[in-house]
Amino acid sequence: METNPIICYCLKVDLQTIKAAIAEGVSSIEGISDKTGAGSGCGRCQNRIADILFTSGATKN
Ligand code: FES
Repeated sequence: METNPIICYCLKVDLQTIKAAIAEGVSSIEGISDKTGAGSGCGRCQNRIADILFTSGATKN
């Protein structure tokens, strides 16, 4: 079972990298893009990033 999947294929950003950014206080897709590059290519991973933000408790809605 894959435990650290690639979330953003364009920038090759994995789940742990995104979680680390959230742990450092990033709470928006834009913030994740600024910090990791994820979501700044085709944009198709942005829903996955939003899900990770939500399930990590970084966003409230
Ligand atoms: S897969 Fe993340 S920007 Fe394309």
